[in-house]
Amino acid sequence: MCGIVGYVGPRQAVDVLLPGLSRLEYRGYDSAGVALVRSDSMDVIKTVGRMADLTGLVGKESPAPAHAGVGHTRWATHGAPNTVNAHPHLDDNGDIVVVHNGIIENWRALKSELAAKGHRFVSDTDTEVIANLLGEMSDLPLVEAVRQVMLRAEGALALAVMRRGEPDVIVGARRGSPLVVGRGDGENFLASDIPAFLEHTREMIVVDDDRVVEVRPDSVRVFDLEGNEIEPEHRKVEWDLEAAEKGGFPTFMLKEINEQPHAIADTLLGRVTGSGRVVLHELEVDEDVLRSIDKVFVVACGTSYHAAMMAKYAIERWTRLPVEIDIASEFRYRDPVLDDRSLVIGISQSGETIDTLAAVRYAKAQGALVIGVTNVVDSALARESDAVLYTRAGPEIGVAATKTFTTQLVAMQLLGLYLAQVRGAMDPARVEMLVGEMMRLPEQVQTAIASGAEIERLARVWGDVRDFFFLGRSGDFPVAMEGALKLKEIAYVRAEGYAAGEMKHGPIALIEKGVVVVGVATDSHVRAKTLSNMEEMKARGATIVLVAEEGDDVGDVADHVIRVPPGPDLICTVTAVVPLQLLAYHVATAKELDVDKPRNLAKTVTVE
Ligand code: AGP
Repeated sequence: MCGIVGYVGPRQAVDVLLPGLSRLEYRGYDSAGVALVRSDSMDVIKTVGRMADLTGLVGKESPAPAHAGVGHTRWATHGAPNTVNAHPHLDDNGDIVVVHNGIIENWRALKSELAAKGHRFVSDTDTEVIANLLGEMSDLPLVEAVRQVMLRAEGALALAVMRRGEPDVIVGARRGSPLVVGRGDGENFLASDIPAFLEHTREMIVVDDDRVVEVRPDSVRVFDLEGNEIEPEHRKVEWDLEAAEKGGFPTFMLKEINEQPHAIADTLLGRVTGSGRVVLHELEVDEDVLRSIDKVFVVACGTSYHAAMMAKYAIERWTRLPVEIDIASEFRYRDPVLDDRSLVIGISQSGETIDTLAAVRYAKAQGALVIGVTNVVDSALARESDAVLYTRAGPEIGVAATKTFTTQLVAMQLLGLYLAQVRGAMDPARVEMLVGEMMRLPEQVQTAIASGAEIERLARVWGDVRDFFFLGRSGDFPVAMEGALKLKEIAYVRAEGYAAGEMKHGPIALIEKGVVVVGVATDSHVRAKTLSNMEEMKARGATIVLVAEEGDDVGDVADHVIRVPPGPDLICTVTAVVPLQLLAYHVATAKELDVDKPRNLAKTVTVE
């Protein structure tokens, strides 16, 4: 996730680009830059850091007036967040300037091809490959060159491109990543999202997938990838600025819940092959080292710990390696038995949680191999681990983790299948089947999100409920734990997450009329047992809510059944948690609480 902006018209481009980028900072904020294009010169100004740093730098450099340009605020996916990797990127002749949001899946192949022709690269980004491909087509009109590049680039991407000496045209292109055009009077705008230009115009065009758009001060022309001109649909923005920054959603949390299909698709992108194998080249760990591992530990805190719980089931089931999981703040104090055949996986969306960092440092000191799973490129966890697997959720602004959790589940499932594959622990046909099911997750999560209206109705009724229990077994247990944590942290309601079979050993004493018990029963090999446990809760007067798969006959145990699309055990955890995120959200908003900034919490916890 990154933010891109472009402008052509009579104003000083920098006065449009900088405020526009600031409004897209929610899309990424590790580095930023602008390119200002004139008929006889071009300036590229970029820096690591936030928009305030870029604005300061532009002020210091005081570039000559320019009436066209492109800008970018970055959320790193390829290469560390530093000034060299910041956008815009140039081709090696310095004629083409590109800003890009998304991932070029086949960048390695394209880069080798260009390097063989003598092209030089200065950054670690996939974007520079696009700039150099375009640089090869200097004889073509820019719009045609971009169309040809779109035919070669694989993956999800949005681009804005300019050429030296052509200050009257920006070419944009889109596949997967968002891109919109703002229509002005004698001026036009291009951006990842509406807030970038909303103070200048409310007239807009949404660029569809596999379209190339040529933006000039007085015209906007849209083409398909065959080169046919398409009549675009013009729309009027009805939102105010604040609503626009949240994509029209009332809160960042709801926006982020809705971004999950996209975030999951991005996390899968380029990591599975058409033939159903998992490819994690990015780990750069010798496969013999992975084959020599005899024990796995997963350490994490809070929501990330719930991803670790799912990972234990997945890795043990798929690789037959023993797995221990630890709340990171407990790990080093229990004196775990580690050596150079131990694999320690640290999961942290921020990559800066001090408890998790301390745990992986301890593990490294004992000689263990450490893999970090994080959402933030070049975070402390990424830097200090021997290998990193990034979730690609984009920035998460809401304090309660949602899209970072579901992408952690997906990343850990990929890692589990990869380990099984490398160690020959699983029939390739079964890996292929599970990979195929994972590829359906974005669509299934979208379906689960659609149950929001019914959940909102239930949540309103439960405004005064004091006690909730969330119960599940096996893969449904971490889902239940996460459902309880979400409700506690944003709705301030006492909620216990429990293994469904454990209730009879004590907590069942708390069950009485007025208590709501949410059962998760999607894991087929324990589903019948979970349903019996729910009968036990019902018999003691609790209101029963059940999360169950579409088409599954759950009898009459539940007062309310929330349906999710069916999927194989463990994979379906990703879908099953979505209704619980929505439940917590709607209980909290019914109480008019600030879900994006719950009391007493911080997004990143850097104290022990
Ligand atoms: C999640 O909703 C929480 N706010 C919190 O439990 C969080 O998951 C925990 O602090 C760990 O954070 P991390 O993933 O950044 O390490």
